[in-house]
Amino acid sequence: MSSTPQATAAPAATAAPATVRAPATVAPGSAAAASGSGRERLPIELCKGINGLDKIVLREVRGSSAEVYLYGGHVTSWKNDHGEELLFLSSKAIFKPPKAIRGGIPICFPQFSNHGSLEQHGFARNRIWSIDNDPPPFPTSTSAKAFVDLILKPTEEDLKIWPHSFEFRLRISLSPAGDLMLTSRIRNTNADGKPFTFTFAYHTYFSVSDISEVRVEGLETLDYLDNLQNKERFTEQGDAITFEAEVDKIYLGTPTKIAILDHEKKRTFVLRKDGLPDAVVWNPWEKKAKAMADFGDEEYKHMLCVEAAAVEKPITLKPGEEWRGRQELSAVPSSYCSGQLDPRRVLLGS
Ligand code: BG6
Repeated sequence: MSSTPQATAAPAATAAPATVRAPATVAPGSAAAASGSGRERLPIELCKGINGLDKIVLREVRGSSAEVYLYGGHVTSWKNDHGEELLFLSSKAIFKPPKAIRGGIPICFPQFSNHGSLEQHGFARNRIWSIDNDPPPFPTSTSAKAFVDLILKPTEEDLKIWPHSFEFRLRISLSPAGDLMLTSRIRNTNADGKPFTFTFAYHTYFSVSDISEVRVEGLETLDYLDNLQNKERFTEQGDAITFEAEVDKIYLGTPTKIAILDHEKKRTFVLRKDGLPDAVVWNPWEKKAKAMADFGDEEYKHMLCVEAAAVEKPITLKPGEEWRGRQELSAVPSSYCSGQLDPRRVLLGS
């Protein structure tokens, strides 16, 4: 996969229903065949979540699971095979359109943050996505048997605020080892011959034991834009990133692997990404936490957003071109004690 848009010969999308009605257990084997995997696919469960919103549950045989709301194409839960939750979801999250769900993995598209004329973080995170039963084949094979394909296309109302036709396909999968993978494929389907440009982020909220015990490795010495200082550009100093105040930075040209080490939990998250050169690091800290209606006053202590993103250099697609951006998350036990862990091993190990 590449950040370079590619014109591919994938067929036009089959129109998907705007909403999914049947609360049922579905095993869309036809979609597995369409993916070209030829492997047996695990059934997915389609049910009602909070406020009656449609929710999909993915389960791997070893016990890991993930939950995805069609509202926002939003992953709200990712659990390891011990049933431990790995993503932060605010106890005050509002599961009601048009408010985006606070926590999990919101999708920021076609605009990250307020870097443009659209609403903050774009509209994909507060639209109802559909299940895509017949996605075009994936170029690369995967061992995942638990996955769901979603699709978002603009409505007439969307076209008034962002006048571009697109098909946004999102595959969410769990590997047998419990890794969570998100692959986005965005295609320009404009019939008027016009290109469009967008920015993007997987706005992942990691669950951490105590933010003051967390360090992020892989971003040290990089340049970043500081959202708290008028997006001014600075260079990161020091060994690794630790937290003792509000942070809202966009690291530029980051490596494909970033590690988030939770000292107290003895757990390391490894974020791998492709097609997404930037990484946003955000924690609102005490004052902003109190100002957010959908976020508990003390919850900033238990979350950290590290967001695989394409912000500095927006992506332009000509009609017929497709862009792909992928994020893969693993949670591995770490026997981290200050000075004992070689971060290179975390970042270089598979
Ligand atoms: C981060 C941005 O990605 O998202 C922050 O860098 C922003 O500036 C945060 O405050 C949360 O955004 P929202 O719209 O979900 O409250």
